[in-house]
Formats: sequence, structure tokens, C-alpha cells
Amino acid sequence: MKILGIETSCDDTCISVTKVKSFEIISNIVSSQVKLHAKYGGVWPFLAKREHQKDLPIVLKKATKNIDISKIDLIGVTIGPGLEPCLWQGINFAKDLAEKLNKPIVPVNHIEAHILANFLDYQTRQRNLFPAICLVVSGGHTQLILMRDIGKYRLIGETRDDAAGECFDKVARILGLGYPGGPAIAVTVANLKPKTYNLKPKLPRPMIYQKNYDFSFSGLKTAVLYDFRSRSQKIKKSKIYIQEMAAEVQQAIIDVLIYKTIKAAKDFRVKSIILGGGVAANDELRRQFALNLKSEILNLKFLVPPKIFCTDNAAMVAVTAYFHKKEATKNWQIVKAEANLRIS
Ligand code: KG4
Ligand code: ZN
Repeated sequence: MKILGIETSCDDTCISVTKVKSFEIISNIVSSQVKLHAKYGGVWPFLAKREHQKDLPIVLKKATKNIDISKIDLIGVTIGPGLEPCLWQGINFAKDLAEKLNKPIVPVNHIEAHILANFLDYQTRQRNLFPAICLVVSGGHTQLILMRDIGKYRLIGETRDDAAGECFDKVARILGLGYPGGPAIAVTVANLKPKTYNLKPKLPRPMIYQKNYDFSFSGLKTAVLYDFRSRSQKIKKSKIYIQEMAAEVQQAIIDVLIYKTIKAAKDFRVKSIILGGGVAANDELRRQFALNLKSEILNLKFLVPPKIFCTDNAAMVAVTAYFHKKEATKNWQIVKAEANLRIS
């Protein structure tokens, strides 16, 4: 069975052809709009929509270069959550293609796709993982989800304001590190060498010990802004200040994410912790998660996708469509964008 996945929920135009059940990824093309949005320090929905429209046929051509497109069995397309004008581009493109090829469509939830990116590895499905706590950390979402099985989810907590990725992006902008902020901050921190003097900026760990599974990251960005404004021109432009602040904000985000996720895992007595979303590509987050789980001797399985499947991609959409193949429909007009789609 061959599934064509389409993902346009934000600023990446992605198409993948994935063969199941082996989950052999035949193609996984991502056309990033990073350079375009970098000028503005964030994503402009209508600019992103225009780019998706332009890029989708090109990306499709590349993704289906070595296959007979008429042999596709079904099409999976992200319907939400995401930027509505962008979602519609992918959906309308999927509908046109589905009608032309007479193939069914499976509507895909972007958050679930980030979780199921872990299941692109065939071995993963053989493991005894459930119940699990999933942490989805991206530019638009920070959610803790109790997963009882594939397709069975309960949202137990989420950010009350900015997402973790959004915090990385906004802080990088304050520090002049460019867009997207997560990778820019990670690289800056990796280059930080111990110095003879240091400024040691200190940031809060928002909501860390509160008895709930929610997050809040907007205060962190504000704290960075206040610290930045309080510094002299010389200091705030210095490499050492920027590196130390980048390190502190990255660590503050990591501390909160790890503490709350492990707490949820203990409270719900789960067998595994599953990560997904762009921020899960962060090396330090991955390393410290594994380290913490080891030191607490919790005996939990820890899953995180390869980095290229953490950030937006369409292979994760194809794999999600496979697990929901019963929902495939040729009643194409019922497939609609749901910008605020929730996981349940
Ligand atoms: O999942 P994703 O590609 O798109 C959304 O669904 O939002 O996530 C994008 C977010 C951005 O905020 C970006 O800064 C962040 O993921 N990100 C990272 C890293 N790579 C991407 N954050 C921290 N460290 C990284 N290495
Ligand atoms: Zn995403």
C-alpha cells in the first residue's frame, strides 16, 4: 500500500510517498519558506499560503519522480491545527489530485502526526508502549497527552500562552539570532565556551512546580526582554551575553518540559514517554531527557523521532493516514480545514 502525505499547516510545503506496512519512505520532500519569513521574524499566513500554492506542484513532481502516481492507494492531508489559509492550500491540492486519480482522502490531525512520526520505524509498533505520555512541542503547540493506544488520546495539559517553539523564536529575535529561533539558539549555545568572567543571566522556570500539566512561556520571553533592556549597549551586543542568555533560555525551557513530563509519566504510571514536534529536534532536550530518565531509574521507554521527522514533514502525515485508513473517504468535499482542531 502506498500513501501520499501532504502537509501545509504552517510554512513548510511537504509531500511524501510512504509504503506501508514496512513504512519504507520512498520520498519525503520539504520546501521550506524559512528565508522568506526570516525577513519578518515570523510566519506571515498569506505569504505562506501563496508560497504553498506555488510550491505544491513542484514538490509533488519531486516526491513522485520515481513512482507511478496512479499506483497511490490513498492520500493523507493535514486538516489542522494550523494556519487556515495554509491548510486550505494543501486540502484543495489533495482534493484535486484525489479526484483526478479517483483515490480516497484521509484527513490528518497535525498533532497526532507529530506523535506518530515515532511510528515510522516499523520496530516501534512491535513494542509494548502504552499507556504513554506524549509531549508535543512545536512552534504552535506545547501539549501533554495521555495516549492509551494509537488513535486514543486525552489532552492533560498545554500552554496557556506561547508555545515552547514560539518562545525560542521570540527570544532569538530579541537577541538578533534570526529565524527560526530554536535551531539558532541551539547553535549559539553549542558554541558557548567557559569564560573567565560571565554575566549569568537568570530566568524563571514558569509553572514548574504547579500541580497541573499546563505550561506558560510568554513570561520567559518578557523576562529576557527586561534583562536585555537593562544591559548597556556594549554588553547586549557582546557575544558572551547573547550566548549566556541563549543558554539560560534554552535551559529554562528544557527544565520545565522535562520536569512536567516526567511528573505526568509518574502520576499516570505510564510505560513510555513519547516526544514529537520541531522543538524535539533540540539536541540538549533529547540528551537531558534521556539522562533524567536514566538517573531517576524509572524504567520508562523513551521515544523521539529522528530530527528530520520532528520538524514538519509529510512522512508523518502518511503514517498517520495509514493508522486511520478506515476513515478514508471519496466524499472529498467533506474534507475541510479546522484551524483549531484538538486531539481526542
Ligand atoms: O513542528 P514544527 O516544525 O512546526 C510547527 O508545527 O510549529 O516546529 C517548529 C518550531 C519552531 O518554533 C522552531 O524554532 C522549533 O520548532 N525548532 C527548534 C529546533 N528546531 C526547530 N527548537 C529548538 N531546538 C531546535 N533544534
Ligand atoms: Zn508541526
